[in-house]
Amino acid sequence: MTDRVVVAGAVYDRGRLLAARRSAPPELAGRWELPGGKLEPGERPEQALVRELREELGVEARPVERIPGEWPLMPGLVLQVWTVRLLSGEPRPLEDHDELRWLGPEEIHTVDWLDQDRPAVAEAARRLPAP
Ligand code: CDP
Repeated sequence: MTDRVVVAGAVYDRGRLLAARRSAPPELAGRWELPGGKLEPGERPEQALVRELREELGVEARPVERIPGEWPLMPGLVLQVWTVRLLSGEPRPLEDHDELRWLGPEEIHTVDWLDQDRPAVAEAARRLPAP
């Protein structure tokens, strides 16, 4: 059986990376992640990411490049990550999150990222555009 894909976005704006704090489920609440979610049937990853960022943050965004790699979540789910440029809107925690933070290069490691997001966050930090 092929794994189901979860897409997440390394959203950049003015040289900072967006971190989102999960509000659910209880075992993940309080941990920080790159926002995203599961592909729906028939969706391409980039489409799913645009939809998830619209639903969760109320923004329009454009996937730019895939961060190489794929990280296992729970059995049957894998995480893929894209760098994303914000096109319009100010992100708000509309769904799944209770706080958002913009992190500059020196602040990336100041939040408690989900373990499975850490490799992608490290790659995202290396790609952080100049402000
Ligand atoms: O919103 P949707 O139900 O599609 O997805 P989700 O609940 O946000 O994420 C699906 C699964 O992927 C959950 O188990 C999350 O913990 C996990 N996930 C993750 O590990 N890292 C992310 N950056 C995003 C989601």
